[in-house]
Amino acid sequence: MNMKKVWFITGAGSGIGEGTVKAALKAGDRVVATGRNLDKVRNALHDVVSENLAFVRLDVSDEAQAKPAVEEAVKRFGRIDILVNNAGYSLLGNFEEMTIADIESQFATNFYGVVYVTRAALPVMRKQRSGHIINISSVAGVVGLKHCTAYGATKFAVEGLSLSVATEVEQFGIKITVVEPGFFRTDLLDERNIRWARSPVEDYAHEGDPQSMWSPYHGTQPGNPAKLGDALVKIAGMENPPKLFVAGSDALAMIVPAIEARLQETRAHEELSRSTEGSF
Ligand SMILES: NC(=O)c1ccc[n+]([C@@H]2O[C@H](COP(=O)([O-])OP(=O)(O)OC[C@H]3O[C@@H](n4cnc5c(N)ncnc54)[C@H](OP(=O)(O)O)[C@@H]3O)[C@@H](O)[C@H]2O)c1
Repeated sequence: MNMKKVWFITGAGSGIGEGTVKAALKAGDRVVATGRNLDKVRNALHDVVSENLAFVRLDVSDEAQAKPAVEEAVKRFGRIDILVNNAGYSLLGNFEEMTIADIESQFATNFYGVVYVTRAALPVMRKQRSGHIINISSVAGVVGLKHCTAYGATKFAVEGLSLSVATEVEQFGIKITVVEPGFFRTDLLDERNIRWARSPVEDYAHEGDPQSMWSPYHGTQPGNPAKLGDALVKIAGMENPPKLFVAGSDALAMIVPAIEARLQETRAHEELSRSTEGSF
C-alpha cells in the first residue's frame, strides 16, 4: 500500500529544505514546511502551493517554539512520518578568532535546534510506533576541516546524537538517517547567511582572510538541492533506510579516504590499545 506520508521540514525557505519540500510534494506526500521567516518560506514555495502543503513558523533555536509547531503540524495532517532537521547556517574562520558567543549561537541553531525539534516530534512518533528522522549533517560532521571548527563541531554533535538516539527509539519503529552532503548550490555560503570569525589574532593574518577562501565556492557548488530532495524521498521510502548517507561525489571523495585513514590508524595502534587493560 502506497500511503501518503507527512513530512515536517525545518529551514524550508531555501536550498536543501526547499528542494526536499518540492521532492516530497512531487512524490504525492504531504509537507509541513517550517521556517523562522514564513514570508520567505511561502515565497520559495509559491509555485507548489496545494492542500498537501502547510506552513508553520519555527525558529529552531527557540526551544519554546518546537512543541507548538509540531502540534500545529499534527493538527493539520494528523501525524508526522518524516522529520527533516535541516535548518542551519555556518560560522567559519579560525577557531581562535571566533567569539564564544558566536560558537554558542552556532550550537543553538545547528545542534540545539535538532535537539528541540526531535524532542518535540519523538512523542508523536512513539505514539504512532513509526517515524523517520533525517538529520542534515555535513562532510564537516565526519572530517575535520579548516575554518569549520564550530560548524563541524555542531555537525559531529548531530551525528553522535543521531546514532545514539537511534539505538533507543528503534524499539518504537523509529529510524534515523544522518545525511552528509558535500557542496550543494544553496544560500549557505551567501554573504547574508554566513557568519565569520571576527576577533582577529595576528598570527593567522599571513594566511589571508578566510572569506577569500570560501566565497568563491558560492554559486559554483556541484550539488543540486532538488536532486538531493529526490534522494531523500527515495531514502524515506526504504524499508531499511541507511543510518548514514553521503550525498555527492565531492563528499564521497572526502569521506571515504577519511574513514579508511581512521580505520588504518585504529588498527596501527591495536597493540597499544589492548595494553591499556588488565589487573589493577
Ligand atoms: N549547501 C551545502 O553545501 C551544505 C553542505 C553540507 C551541509 N549542509 C547543511 O544543509 C542544511 C541546509 O542548508 P542549505 O545548504 O540548504 O543552506 P540555506 O539555503 O542557507 O538553507 C538553510 C535554511 O535554514 C534556515 N535557518 C537558519 N537558521 C534557522 C533557525 N534558527 N530557525 C529556522 N530556520 C533557520 C534558513 O532560513 P533563514 O533565511 O531564516 O536564515 C535557510 O532557509 C544546513 O543544516 C547545512 O548545514 C549544506
